[in-house]
Amino acid sequence: MTVTIVGAQLGDEGKGGVVDLYGDTADVVARYQGGDNAGHTVVHDGEKYKLSLVPSGAVRGKVGVLGNGCVINPRTLFDEIESLREKGLDPDVRVAERAHVILPFHRVLDGIEEDVKSEDDQEVGTTGRGIGPTYEDKAGRRGVRVGDLLDPDVLRDRLEYVVPQKRALIEDVYGADVSELDDPDAFDVDALFEEYREIGERLAEQNMTVNASAFLTDAMAEGKTVMFEGAQGTIIDIDHGNYPYVTSSNPTAGGAAVGTGLSPNVIADGEIIGIVKGYLTRVGSGPLPTELGGVEGDTPDYDEQGDGENEELATYIREEGGEYGTVTGRPRRVGWLDMPMLRHSARVNGFTGLAINHIDVLAGLDEVKIGHSYELDGEELLAMPPTTEEWGRCEATFKTFDGWDDVDWAAVAEEGYDAIPENARTYLEYISDELDAPIYAVGVGPGREETVVVETPTGAA
Ligand code: GDP
Ligand code: IMO
Ligand code: MG
Repeated sequence: MTVTIVGAQLGDEGKGGVVDLYGDTADVVARYQGGDNAGHTVVHDGEKYKLSLVPSGAVRGKVGVLGNGCVINPRTLFDEIESLREKGLDPDVRVAERAHVILPFHRVLDGIEEDVKSEDDQEVGTTGRGIGPTYEDKAGRRGVRVGDLLDPDVLRDRLEYVVPQKRALIEDVYGADVSELDDPDAFDVDALFEEYREIGERLAEQNMTVNASAFLTDAMAEGKTVMFEGAQGTIIDIDHGNYPYVTSSNPTAGGAAVGTGLSPNVIADGEIIGIVKGYLTRVGSGPLPTELGGVEGDTPDYDEQGDGENEELATYIREEGGEYGTVTGRPRRVGWLDMPMLRHSARVNGFTGLAINHIDVLAGLDEVKIGHSYELDGEELLAMPPTTEEWGRCEATFKTFDGWDDVDWAAVAEEGYDAIPENARTYLEYISDELDAPIYAVGVGPGREETVVVETPTGAA
């Protein structure tokens, strides 16, 4: 019995809210990829929780697992657990021994590489959390895993191999002076060994490390329901997104198997819910064919795409939707919903249901548009092309929908789907038909109660 929550677009679709909504029926909530680059918001009882690493199920007191596919910054993990405790929660978080550790030098390298790329307008606009450099070391077979923190001899061996390489990289390739960094200890084997050995002891004392595959298999054998909480979104997946403007992990549904150690059969036997924002936002660089308006300094190469000129409307939606990054506070770029993007996403993930959020944010507009298809070199495309260069040349062909009024959305959520204004239902049903997936929930506000629940996933498809 599993439910997998996947971002269908570019992240920030409202995954945290949906995990919280459906989390009631889950016993365990597991993340399978990403790290503290995520920012998942849960709003409940007037309290706003921003979670970057601890699975959102913590708000409902569920056991949280950070799977082997995640990258763990232990400093963030302990800080976040502490700040949740201050809010009266008691998070029970287990971390896979196979997960990789984000070390301080990964963050430094993330920042430096972005700076260098920005000299040629090639920066990805990362969150600066060291995600890319940590996954690089994982793939390069020189990473430090959570399990390594538990054995001081292994930890020292790993650090003695990798740290001098990183020091040489930063000094000889990037020409930086380590002693002038904010955190000069980031490249010091002894200092890192002391800090991370202690972290290992703390993880062991608090019984926080697990073999995620065995832990989750046992939980399921006991009849427990597991929910997988994807971070980021399909279009910033390293394999299926718009490379190189992506994160370094697999937010797509297949990642749930690889990133936890459960069989793909387990994921496929359950439900896979695609989380769709009713329009589009993006933090960071890359194309956006349905873009309404960007933010200053963003992606000079793709400024001409989309309308790109409707700054006023973009600003309106940004303000109404509070579209500022949860992790970095950056203003998000805004566009109309993009169906070629979503068709690609539906194909890659195999959604059994959809949660479509932020319908309230679009209320009050005279008309609302959706990019139905693209035109590329005189041809119509229904799904986004595989190269980012081609995607960057796509012109969206729009379908226009009549707008809907702003209404008492809390009352709508209570009454149910038929209480949603008719024009909004037409909009929603077009999306559902095009993606051939039923609507499970419609977000009409940030709170748990501000959601129209059509179906509650049972965990079995
Ligand atoms: P996530 O990263 O996918 O979990 O999404 P974020 O938390 O980064 O961004 C979504 C934002 O929209 C948060 O501030 C949510 O509280 C808010 N939100 C989620 N669903 C809705 C909705 O249906 N309507 C409105 N107005 N806000 C929503
Ligand atoms: P949630 O889970 C939106 C973006 C960054 C950047 C690219 C690579 O809240 O939906 P990274 O730091 O991962 O190397 O940055 O990916 N990005 C996100 N955008 N939501 C997120 O997470 C994101 N996590 C990373 O802005 O463009
Ligand atoms: Mg987010």
